[in-house]
Amino acid sequence: MTEYGDLEKQARERISAAVDLPALEALRVEYLGKQGSVSGLLKSLGTMSPDERQAKAPAIQALRDAVSGALAERKEAMEASVLEGRPATETLDLTLPAPETPRGTVHPVSQVMDELAEIFADLGFSVATGPEIEDEWHNFSALNMPESHPARAMHDTFYFPDQMAVGGRKMLLRTHTSPVQIRSMMAHGAPLRIIAPGRVYRSDSDATHTPMFHQVEGLVIDRDIHLGHLKWTLETFLRAFFEKDDLVLRLRPSYFPFTEPSVEADVGFALVDGKRVLGGSGDAPGHGWMELLGSGLVNRRVIEMAGLDPDQWQGFAFGVGVDRLAMLKYGMDDLRAFFDGDVRWLRHYGFSFLDQPTLSAGVGARA
Ligand code: DAH
Repeated sequence: MTEYGDLEKQARERISAAVDLPALEALRVEYLGKQGSVSGLLKSLGTMSPDERQAKAPAIQALRDAVSGALAERKEAMEASVLEGRPATETLDLTLPAPETPRGTVHPVSQVMDELAEIFADLGFSVATGPEIEDEWHNFSALNMPESHPARAMHDTFYFPDQMAVGGRKMLLRTHTSPVQIRSMMAHGAPLRIIAPGRVYRSDSDATHTPMFHQVEGLVIDRDIHLGHLKWTLETFLRAFFEKDDLVLRLRPSYFPFTEPSVEADVGFALVDGKRVLGGSGDAPGHGWMELLGSGLVNRRVIEMAGLDPDQWQGFAFGVGVDRLAMLKYGMDDLRAFFDGDVRWLRHYGFSFLDQPTLSAGVGARA
């Protein structure tokens, strides 16, 4: 025992009795801090004569090492016991329900677009896209829509100011997905099988029209394409989409500038308790026909304008409202609610992100 033996003993006792880290820190300051007692002894070495210093230094330094060693040891032990102590004192009830985390849903429009991609991928179509800010050549002229066509009027179409024209072409918000036909033919040539889902814009707003809505365009370009290919493809697509094997399609003559001949496709439905249920011929008693989409064989002038030889390549095209398909399949009745962003509506009509449409499981997996 040196002459600091008592001091060391007392320090060790107090350190081992310290109950927590703050108490330990207070002891560290008391002994080794700037004003600490051990620090004071160390400082006093400076005032001693060389002989005295040589005599006392080893004991004082040993005291300092002993105290700081004891502090470090105790601190380590405390930290370890905090970790070990938690499992001993805390309990975890695994039978409690997990805390709820907010979870989003997939919007029916996105879901239906995924379903369409799945169905058409199976038929060898790829998904094409085009810009929503389009020029009037791709949106109208190349689709054989003359200057006098009513859709080109200011009150139907959102135009950008004239100063924003690019290469002499006025810019606009595309009014349909049909310009993707032109862009795809020009970019990839023939043969071609694409669908082009996306947003379109028209100056229109009421219960069944919103200024922005969604369409999907279909285009097949190949040799010797005829209306039979069109009808089979539409029927196959609609039967898979609505999951109705008895869906009947009726093609009715119509007119679109970009197709010749043009047809509108109707599907048969039955009235059941005042509700329209798709399936069966619309001509049967108690049944009717519902207009669903526009289509036709691609006008040879359109094929030509897209840079292909219409004597070699023919095709069919169709365009259909995605929102309308969603409403018919999943039973919503007000189109405006699609774009209100009301969380209650989204929870009710939305889909789980795990509900990936697959052909084998049925493309409307939730049903
Ligand atoms: N683009 C037309 C529209 O927005 C829909 C349409 C009709 C697209 C016939 C087509 C088609 O590809 O062949 O009303």
